[in-house]
Amino acid sequence: MSASPATRATGRPVLGTAGGARPAQVSGPAGTDAAFAVEFSGLGRSFPTVAARGRRPAAPAVARPVLRDVTLSVRPGEVLAILGTSGCGKSTLLRIAGGLDSPSAGSVSIDGSPVTGFDTRCAVGFQEPRLLPWRTVAANVALGLPRGTARESGQARVAELLDLVGLSAFAGHRPAAISGGMAQRASLARALARNPGVLLLDEPFGALDALTRLKMQDLLLEVHAAAPTTVLLVTHDVDEALQLADRIILLGQEPAVTDAAIPGATIVQELTVPGHRPRDRGSAELAELRGRLLAGLGIDRHGDTRGVAAGTTIPHFPY
Ligand SMILES: Nc1ncnc2c1ncn2[C@@H]1O[C@H](COP(=O)(O)OP(=O)(O)OP(=O)(O)O)[C@@H](O)[C@H]1O
Ligand SMILES: [Mg+2]
Repeated sequence: MSASPATRATGRPVLGTAGGARPAQVSGPAGTDAAFAVEFSGLGRSFPTVAARGRRPAAPAVARPVLRDVTLSVRPGEVLAILGTSGCGKSTLLRIAGGLDSPSAGSVSIDGSPVTGFDTRCAVGFQEPRLLPWRTVAANVALGLPRGTARESGQARVAELLDLVGLSAFAGHRPAAISGGMAQRASLARALARNPGVLLLDEPFGALDALTRLKMQDLLLEVHAAAPTTVLLVTHDVDEALQLADRIILLGQEPAVTDAAIPGATIVQELTVPGHRPRDRGSAELAELRGRLLAGLGIDRHGDTRGVAAGTTIPHFPY
């Protein structure tokens, strides 16, 4: 990709070419109510340090900033990938978006209204499928249905979702009797059961083998095409982000302008992924973006790490 970095009003570099994002669609055949915009505004999150937590109440609290000044608009129906080194605050950002945690500064809103607690407009998918072992696959998926769903329409919705993720034949199986990839598909179906306006996925394919992972990426694209909800996808995998996302943000520490670096991760790179999905994994354009993202993660093209804080784990990419 030859476009030189541009700068938006936010002041942060914007890489990539326009035209990658598909127009937002807000309804789908699976009965999706709507895809919602997500707006982060000056968002910050600090946690008390372990030492401070152990002290007597009289001791002043010490706050360790994890996120700072995250400002971002996610369009309805957009797939946004969130990259960053381990421990930089990706899951924290996702948890705040879903109302599972609260910001220390700034705010997050969904569809124009503030997130103030666990938000039923969102559904969350994790690295582990988190299925209940004593329930069948179908019964696990049914757990995601909105409260008060009538029995018959609930069963129809579960059947529809199992079909979507290719698990119809395993509806009556218990989690112990299906593979890890199938369990992750069931978990995705459960997350979709309530027709979420925002789907929050935290490394959803991180525990899967490379081949199953590629299949799950294709499945997510199919699911999104059928019911184009807004997706916030945390991943360690640069190629996964390039394959799935309309836009990618990289969270990290801004380089210090003066002697003292401002603590806390913020958006240090933002790029629009060119082309329509499914993308050619081997394209030269994506290779260029991959290089930029890896450099932003502190990894050069030979896999060496540079400029990364001691103790930071650099994930292993299949690049
Ligand atoms: N409830 C909490 N109390 C104290 N510290 C926390 C809490 N939640 C997160 N943190 C700290 O915030 C930092 C960011 O955590 P987070 O889980 O968001 O990172 P991450 O980017 O998702 O990392 P990974 O890629 O390893 O999953 C970590 O240092 C973590 O210890
Ligand atoms: Mg995490």
